[in-house]
Amino acid sequence: MIVKKEIVSRADIARRVKELGQAITRDYSGRPLVMIGILNGAFIFLADLVREIELPIEIDFIRVASYGSGTCSSGIIQCTKDTELDLTGKDILLVEDIVDTGRTLVRLKELLAARKVASVKICTLIDKRERREVEVEVDYVGFVVAEGFLVGYGLDHAQQHRHYPAIYNIVSGG
Ligand code: IMP
Ligand code: MG
Repeated sequence: MIVKKEIVSRADIARRVKELGQAITRDYSGRPLVMIGILNGAFIFLADLVREIELPIEIDFIRVASYGSGTCSSGIIQCTKDTELDLTGKDILLVEDIVDTGRTLVRLKELLAARKVASVKICTLIDKRERREVEVEVDYVGFVVAEGFLVGYGLDHAQQHRHYPAIYNIVSGG
């Protein structure tokens, strides 16, 4: 049996996403921005976040492969879906659901930086900072969560639970 405990409520997510949108709007002050969602986990967060930002925005997605070969032309990271927009000279904001060891974002940041972009920043809904194994600068953080496996609001466990409107910690119970 799986027991789930609410960690972040729907209302708290909405409040924080609004604040992040305001901070991003302020920081880029009218400059166009390309927001790249990391599939699949970031799809709900990205959808809510873009609606709190008042800037000219383009949206794209990238998917990172867990195993096997990908379609990204770089040896840094394996992707199964690459971005499609022309990113040359653009300001990029990578949008992630959760940063754990930091390995995914370090590699993705390198991959995008190699494409002659103007800048690459990172926005994550959740930062599991205590679990970091490699250093990565995260520019916008929704919530810092100490530990546990989280699901909901895009986050999955074996592809389940992504559709929950709040964020839960799941534990196996008897
Ligand atoms: P890392 O930072 O490279 O270790 O990987 C982060 C990725 O691992 C995230 O994009 C998630 O897909 C997945 N992940 C890490 N922790 C969790 C969690 O608590 N719930 C769901 N997915 C997680
Ligand atoms: Mg992910």
